[in-house]
Amino acid sequence: TQEGADFAAIPKLELHLHHEGAAPPAFIRGLASEKKVNIDKVFDERGHYAYDDFWHFLQVYEAATSVLKTPEDYARLTTAVLEESAASGVIYTETFLSPDFCGGRDVGAWREYLHAIREAADAAERDMGIVTRGIITCIRHFGPDKAKETALCAAETAGDWIVGFGIAGDEKAGKPRDFAYSFDMAREAELALTAHAGEWGGPQSVRDALEALRPARIGHGVRAIEDLELVDRLAEEGVVLEVCPGSNVTLGIYPDVARHPIEMLRERGVKVTVSTDDPPFFHTTMAKEYEALHHAFGWEEEVFAQINRTALDAAFCDQATKDTLA
Ligand code: ADE
Ligand code: ZN
Repeated sequence: TQEGADFAAIPKLELHLHHEGAAPPAFIRGLASEKKVNIDKVFDERGHYAYDDFWHFLQVYEAATSVLKTPEDYARLTTAVLEESAASGVIYTETFLSPDFCGGRDVGAWREYLHAIREAADAAERDMGIVTRGIITCIRHFGPDKAKETALCAAETAGDWIVGFGIAGDEKAGKPRDFAYSFDMAREAELALTAHAGEWGGPQSVRDALEALRPARIGHGVRAIEDLELVDRLAEEGVVLEVCPGSNVTLGIYPDVARHPIEMLRERGVKVTVSTDDPPFFHTTMAKEYEALHHAFGWEEEVFAQINRTALDAAFCDQATKDTLA
Protein backbone atom coordinates (compact mmCIF):
# COMPACT_ATOMS: atom_id res chain seq x y z
CA THR A 1 0.00 0.00 0.00
CA GLN A 2 1.40 3.37 -0.95
CA GLU A 3 1.25 6.67 0.88
CA GLY A 4 -2.14 8.26 0.26
CA ALA A 5 -3.61 4.97 -0.91
CA ASP A 6 -7.33 4.79 -0.54
CA PHE A 7 -7.92 2.69 2.56
CA ALA A 8 -11.66 2.98 2.02
CA ALA A 9 -11.28 0.84 -1.11
CA ILE A 10 -10.23 -2.26 0.87
CA PRO A 11 -13.31 -4.49 1.46
CA LYS A 12 -13.77 -4.88 5.22
CA LEU A 13 -15.71 -6.91 7.74
CA GLU A 14 -16.52 -5.23 11.05
CA LEU A 15 -17.57 -7.32 14.06
CA HIS A 16 -17.82 -4.72 16.84
CA LEU A 17 -20.07 -1.70 16.32
CA HIS A 18 -22.55 -0.23 18.81
CA HIS A 19 -25.64 0.85 16.91
CA GLU A 20 -26.36 4.04 18.88
CA GLY A 21 -22.64 4.66 19.34
CA ALA A 22 -22.30 4.89 15.58
CA ALA A 23 -24.93 7.64 15.26
CA PRO A 24 -23.54 10.66 13.41
CA PRO A 25 -23.77 13.70 15.78
CA ALA A 26 -25.64 15.69 13.11
CA PHE A 27 -28.26 12.95 12.96
CA ILE A 28 -28.77 13.00 16.76
CA ARG A 29 -28.85 16.83 16.76
CA GLY A 30 -31.46 16.81 13.99
CA LEU A 31 -33.66 14.32 15.84
CA ALA A 32 -33.31 16.32 19.09
CA SER A 33 -34.49 19.51 17.40
CA GLU A 34 -37.38 17.71 15.63
CA LYS A 35 -38.51 16.43 19.01
CA LYS A 36 -37.66 19.66 20.83
CA VAL A 37 -35.44 17.81 23.30
CA ASN A 38 -32.49 19.74 24.70
CA ILE A 39 -29.33 17.63 24.69
CA ASP A 40 -26.82 20.47 24.20
CA LYS A 41 -24.64 19.01 26.98
CA VAL A 42 -23.91 16.04 24.73
CA PHE A 43 -21.96 18.17 22.23
CA ASP A 44 -18.92 20.44 22.32
CA GLU A 45 -18.76 23.79 20.51
CA ARG A 46 -17.70 22.09 17.27
CA GLY A 47 -20.71 19.80 17.38
CA HIS A 48 -18.73 16.66 18.32
CA TYR A 49 -19.76 14.35 21.15
CA ALA A 50 -18.15 15.66 24.36
CA TYR A 51 -17.10 13.60 27.40
CA ASP A 52 -14.24 13.52 29.91
CA ASP A 53 -13.58 9.82 30.40
CA PHE A 54 -15.11 6.39 29.76
CA TRP A 55 -17.70 6.60 32.53
CA HIS A 56 -18.79 10.03 31.36
CA PHE A 57 -18.80 8.63 27.81
CA LEU A 58 -21.35 6.02 28.92
CA GLN A 59 -23.57 8.81 30.33
CA VAL A 60 -23.28 10.94 27.19
CA TYR A 61 -24.00 7.84 25.08
CA GLU A 62 -27.21 7.25 27.03
CA ALA A 63 -28.21 10.94 26.81
CA ALA A 64 -27.68 10.98 23.03
CA THR A 65 -29.61 7.70 22.73
CA SER A 66 -32.56 9.19 24.62
CA VAL A 67 -33.68 11.11 21.49
CA LEU A 68 -34.16 7.80 19.65
CA LYS A 69 -37.73 7.04 20.64
CA THR A 70 -39.66 5.17 17.95
CA PRO A 71 -38.98 2.21 15.65
CA GLU A 72 -38.97 4.76 12.79
CA ASP A 73 -36.15 6.68 14.57
CA TYR A 74 -34.16 3.44 14.69
CA ALA A 75 -34.83 2.77 11.02
CA ARG A 76 -33.43 6.22 10.16
CA LEU A 77 -30.49 5.65 12.49
CA THR A 78 -29.75 2.34 10.77
CA THR A 79 -29.64 3.98 7.35
CA ALA A 80 -27.37 6.79 8.61
CA VAL A 81 -24.99 4.33 10.29
CA LEU A 82 -24.76 1.93 7.35
CA GLU A 83 -24.12 4.79 4.90
CA GLU A 84 -21.02 5.71 6.93
CA SER A 85 -19.87 2.09 7.14
CA ALA A 86 -20.37 1.47 3.42
CA ALA A 87 -18.45 4.67 2.59
CA SER A 88 -15.53 3.23 4.57
CA GLY A 89 -15.51 0.00 2.55
CA VAL A 90 -17.40 -2.18 5.02
CA ILE A 91 -19.18 -5.06 3.24
CA TYR A 92 -20.34 -6.91 6.37
CA THR A 93 -21.11 -5.52 9.80
CA GLU A 94 -22.35 -6.93 13.07
CA THR A 95 -24.10 -4.30 15.15
CA PHE A 96 -24.80 -4.37 18.89
CA LEU A 97 -28.49 -3.74 19.61
CA SER A 98 -29.80 -3.21 23.13
CA PRO A 99 -33.52 -3.66 23.88
CA ASP A 100 -32.78 -1.47 26.94
CA PHE A 101 -32.79 1.46 24.51
CA CYS A 102 -35.34 0.02 22.02
CA GLY A 103 -38.64 -0.66 23.73
CA GLY A 104 -37.34 -1.18 27.27
CA ARG A 105 -36.80 -4.97 27.05
CA ASP A 106 -40.47 -5.72 26.40
CA VAL A 107 -40.42 -8.55 23.84
CA GLY A 108 -43.41 -7.22 21.90
CA ALA A 109 -41.99 -3.70 21.65
CA TRP A 110 -38.53 -5.06 20.85
CA ARG A 111 -39.96 -7.00 17.88
CA GLU A 112 -41.27 -3.72 16.42
CA TYR A 113 -37.89 -2.01 16.73
CA LEU A 114 -36.16 -5.04 15.27
CA HIS A 115 -38.56 -5.12 12.34
CA ALA A 116 -37.84 -1.44 11.56
CA ILE A 117 -34.06 -1.87 11.92
CA ARG A 118 -34.08 -4.95 9.75
CA GLU A 119 -36.10 -3.31 6.97
CA ALA A 120 -33.60 -0.43 6.86
CA ALA A 121 -30.67 -2.87 6.89
CA ASP A 122 -32.20 -4.92 4.05
CA ALA A 123 -32.63 -1.70 2.03
CA ALA A 124 -28.98 -0.79 2.71
CA GLU A 125 -27.94 -4.22 1.46
CA ARG A 126 -29.88 -3.68 -1.79
CA ASP A 127 -28.74 -0.06 -2.24
CA MET A 128 -25.18 -0.10 -0.91
CA GLY A 129 -24.20 -3.77 -0.87
CA ILE A 130 -23.50 -3.86 2.87
CA VAL A 131 -24.67 -6.98 4.75
CA THR A 132 -25.74 -6.47 8.39
CA ARG A 133 -26.47 -8.85 11.27
CA GLY A 134 -27.52 -8.04 14.84
CA ILE A 135 -26.05 -9.03 18.20
CA ILE A 136 -28.34 -8.38 21.15
CA THR A 137 -26.35 -6.85 23.95
CA CYS A 138 -27.08 -6.50 27.63
CA ILE A 139 -25.54 -3.65 29.58
CA ARG A 140 -23.36 -4.72 32.49
CA HIS A 141 -24.00 -1.69 34.70
CA PHE A 142 -27.78 -2.14 34.31
CA GLY A 143 -27.39 -5.38 36.30
CA PRO A 144 -28.17 -9.10 35.91
CA ASP A 145 -31.98 -8.85 36.18
CA LYS A 146 -32.25 -6.54 33.18
CA ALA A 147 -29.74 -8.76 31.39
CA LYS A 148 -32.12 -11.72 31.84
CA GLU A 149 -34.97 -9.76 30.23
CA THR A 150 -32.57 -8.80 27.44
CA ALA A 151 -31.57 -12.44 26.97
CA LEU A 152 -35.26 -13.34 26.70
CA CYS A 153 -35.66 -10.74 23.91
CA ALA A 154 -32.63 -12.33 22.26
CA ALA A 155 -33.92 -15.89 22.60
CA GLU A 156 -37.33 -14.86 21.23
CA THR A 157 -35.87 -13.17 18.13
CA ALA A 158 -32.86 -15.41 17.47
CA GLY A 159 -32.60 -16.52 13.86
CA ASP A 160 -30.98 -15.70 10.57
CA TRP A 161 -30.60 -11.98 11.40
CA ILE A 162 -30.21 -11.84 15.18
CA VAL A 163 -27.21 -14.11 15.34
CA GLY A 164 -25.51 -13.32 18.63
CA PHE A 165 -25.74 -12.22 22.23
CA GLY A 166 -23.25 -10.09 24.14
CA ILE A 167 -22.51 -7.83 27.07
CA ALA A 168 -21.18 -4.26 27.00
CA GLY A 169 -21.11 -1.37 29.44
CA ASP A 170 -19.03 -0.76 32.55
CA GLU A 171 -16.60 -3.65 32.89
CA LYS A 172 -15.99 -2.66 36.53
CA ALA A 173 -19.66 -3.27 37.45
CA GLY A 174 -20.50 -6.72 38.79
CA LYS A 175 -18.88 -10.02 37.79
CA PRO A 176 -19.24 -12.08 34.61
CA ARG A 177 -20.76 -14.98 36.59
CA ASP A 178 -23.71 -12.68 37.47
CA PHE A 179 -24.56 -12.85 33.76
CA ALA A 180 -23.97 -16.59 33.22
CA TYR A 181 -27.72 -17.31 33.38
CA SER A 182 -28.38 -14.86 30.53
CA PHE A 183 -25.53 -16.26 28.44
CA ASP A 184 -26.77 -19.81 29.04
CA MET A 185 -30.24 -18.77 27.86
CA ALA A 186 -28.75 -17.25 24.72
CA ARG A 187 -26.57 -20.31 24.09
CA GLU A 188 -29.65 -22.49 24.46
CA ALA A 189 -31.30 -20.38 21.74
CA GLU A 190 -28.28 -21.15 19.50
CA LEU A 191 -26.96 -17.61 19.56
CA ALA A 192 -23.21 -17.09 19.22
CA LEU A 193 -21.59 -15.27 22.12
CA THR A 194 -19.28 -12.33 22.68
CA ALA A 195 -18.37 -10.39 25.82
CA HIS A 196 -16.63 -7.07 26.43
CA ALA A 197 -13.62 -7.70 28.68
CA GLY A 198 -10.00 -6.64 28.96
CA GLU A 199 -10.74 -3.03 28.07
CA TRP A 200 -10.99 -1.50 31.58
CA GLY A 201 -10.26 -4.71 33.45
CA GLY A 202 -6.94 -6.52 33.24
CA PRO A 203 -6.17 -10.16 32.35
CA GLN A 204 -8.22 -11.53 35.26
CA SER A 205 -11.31 -9.83 33.84
CA VAL A 206 -10.74 -11.67 30.54
CA ARG A 207 -10.23 -14.99 32.36
CA ASP A 208 -13.41 -14.45 34.40
CA ALA A 209 -15.43 -13.70 31.26
CA LEU A 210 -14.06 -16.79 29.47
CA GLU A 211 -14.79 -19.03 32.44
CA ALA A 212 -18.27 -17.78 33.29
CA LEU A 213 -19.67 -16.93 29.86
CA ARG A 214 -17.69 -19.14 27.41
CA PRO A 215 -17.85 -16.65 24.52
CA ALA A 216 -16.31 -17.41 21.12
CA ARG A 217 -15.18 -13.78 20.88
CA ILE A 218 -14.06 -11.12 23.32
CA GLY A 219 -14.84 -7.43 22.77
CA HIS A 220 -11.46 -5.68 23.10
CA GLY A 221 -9.55 -8.24 25.23
CA VAL A 222 -6.38 -6.27 24.54
CA ARG A 223 -5.28 -6.05 28.16
CA ALA A 224 -4.63 -9.81 27.99
CA ILE A 225 -1.21 -8.60 26.81
CA GLU A 226 -0.36 -7.99 30.49
CA ASP A 227 -0.27 -11.79 31.02
CA LEU A 228 1.50 -13.80 28.33
CA GLU A 229 0.12 -17.11 29.64
CA LEU A 230 -3.35 -15.78 28.93
CA VAL A 231 -2.24 -14.58 25.50
CA ASP A 232 -1.04 -18.08 24.68
CA ARG A 233 -4.30 -19.55 25.94
CA LEU A 234 -6.29 -17.19 23.68
CA ALA A 235 -4.13 -18.28 20.75
CA GLU A 236 -4.45 -22.01 21.55
CA GLU A 237 -8.21 -21.88 22.09
CA GLY A 238 -8.75 -19.71 19.02
CA VAL A 239 -10.63 -17.01 20.94
CA VAL A 240 -11.18 -14.10 18.56
CA LEU A 241 -10.56 -10.55 19.75
CA GLU A 242 -12.69 -7.69 18.43
CA VAL A 243 -9.97 -5.07 18.66
CA CYS A 244 -10.83 -1.36 18.41
CA PRO A 245 -7.51 0.51 18.43
CA GLY A 246 -8.88 4.03 17.87
CA SER A 247 -11.41 3.58 20.67
CA ASN A 248 -8.70 2.42 23.10
CA VAL A 249 -6.41 5.34 22.18
CA THR A 250 -9.12 8.00 22.37
CA LEU A 251 -10.28 6.68 25.77
CA GLY A 252 -6.68 6.81 27.01
CA ILE A 253 -5.92 3.11 27.49
CA TYR A 254 -2.88 3.45 25.18
CA PRO A 255 -1.07 6.68 24.26
CA ASP A 256 -1.14 6.03 20.49
CA VAL A 257 -1.74 3.28 17.93
CA ALA A 258 1.99 2.52 17.67
CA ARG A 259 1.93 1.49 21.36
CA HIS A 260 -1.33 -0.47 21.05
CA PRO A 261 -0.85 -4.24 21.65
CA ILE A 262 -2.76 -5.41 18.54
CA GLU A 263 0.47 -6.18 16.65
CA MET A 264 2.04 -8.07 19.59
CA LEU A 265 -1.13 -10.10 20.04
CA ARG A 266 -1.24 -10.91 16.33
CA GLU A 267 2.45 -11.88 16.24
CA ARG A 268 1.92 -14.23 19.19
CA GLY A 269 -0.83 -16.04 17.29
CA VAL A 270 -4.01 -14.50 18.67
CA LYS A 271 -6.87 -14.16 16.20
CA VAL A 272 -7.36 -10.39 16.02
CA THR A 273 -9.92 -8.42 14.03
CA VAL A 274 -10.34 -4.64 13.64
CA SER A 275 -13.44 -2.56 14.43
CA THR A 276 -14.42 0.99 15.36
CA ASP A 277 -16.66 0.47 18.45
CA ASP A 278 -18.43 3.89 18.42
CA PRO A 279 -16.87 5.69 15.46
CA PRO A 280 -18.04 9.33 15.80
CA PHE A 281 -17.36 9.30 19.55
CA PHE A 282 -13.75 8.36 18.79
CA HIS A 283 -13.37 10.45 15.62
CA THR A 284 -12.72 7.32 13.62
CA THR A 285 -13.97 5.24 10.68
CA MET A 286 -12.91 1.80 9.43
CA ALA A 287 -10.83 3.48 6.71
CA LYS A 288 -9.07 5.62 9.35
CA GLU A 289 -8.39 2.55 11.51
CA TYR A 290 -6.71 0.80 8.57
CA GLU A 291 -4.71 3.89 7.72
CA ALA A 292 -3.51 4.25 11.34
CA LEU A 293 -2.51 0.55 11.47
CA HIS A 294 -0.63 0.91 8.20
CA HIS A 295 1.32 3.88 9.57
CA ALA A 296 1.94 2.36 13.03
CA PHE A 297 2.92 -1.18 12.00
CA GLY A 298 3.46 -1.08 8.24
CA TRP A 299 0.46 -3.34 7.65
CA GLU A 300 -0.04 -3.90 3.93
CA GLU A 301 -2.75 -5.54 1.83
CA GLU A 302 -1.74 -9.06 2.91
CA VAL A 303 -2.16 -8.33 6.63
CA PHE A 304 -5.52 -6.63 6.04
CA ALA A 305 -6.62 -9.63 3.95
CA GLN A 306 -5.62 -11.97 6.81
CA ILE A 307 -7.52 -9.82 9.34
CA ASN A 308 -10.61 -9.96 7.14
CA ARG A 309 -10.34 -13.75 6.68
CA THR A 310 -10.23 -14.07 10.47
CA ALA A 311 -13.31 -11.83 10.72
CA LEU A 312 -15.17 -13.85 8.08
CA ASP A 313 -14.37 -17.07 9.96
CA ALA A 314 -15.46 -15.53 13.27
CA ALA A 315 -18.60 -13.85 11.92
CA PHE A 316 -21.82 -15.07 13.55
CA CYS A 317 -23.87 -15.26 10.30
CA ASP A 318 -24.63 -18.57 8.59
CA GLN A 319 -22.34 -20.26 6.08
CA ALA A 320 -24.52 -19.33 3.06
CA THR A 321 -24.07 -15.66 3.96
CA LYS A 322 -20.32 -16.17 4.44
CA ASP A 323 -20.12 -17.76 0.98
CA THR A 324 -21.54 -14.58 -0.56
CA LEU A 325 -18.83 -12.51 1.18
CA ALA A 326 -15.79 -14.69 0.49
N1 ADE B 1 -20.71 0.66 24.97
C1 ADE B 1 -20.39 1.39 23.91
N2 ADE B 1 -19.06 1.40 23.71
C2 ADE B 1 -18.52 0.66 24.69
C3 ADE B 1 -17.20 0.29 25.03
N3 ADE B 1 -16.13 0.70 24.33
N4 ADE B 1 -17.02 -0.48 26.12
C4 ADE B 1 -18.06 -0.88 26.83
N5 ADE B 1 -19.32 -0.57 26.55
C5 ADE B 1 -19.55 0.19 25.48
ZN1 ZN C 1 -17.72 -1.94 22.45
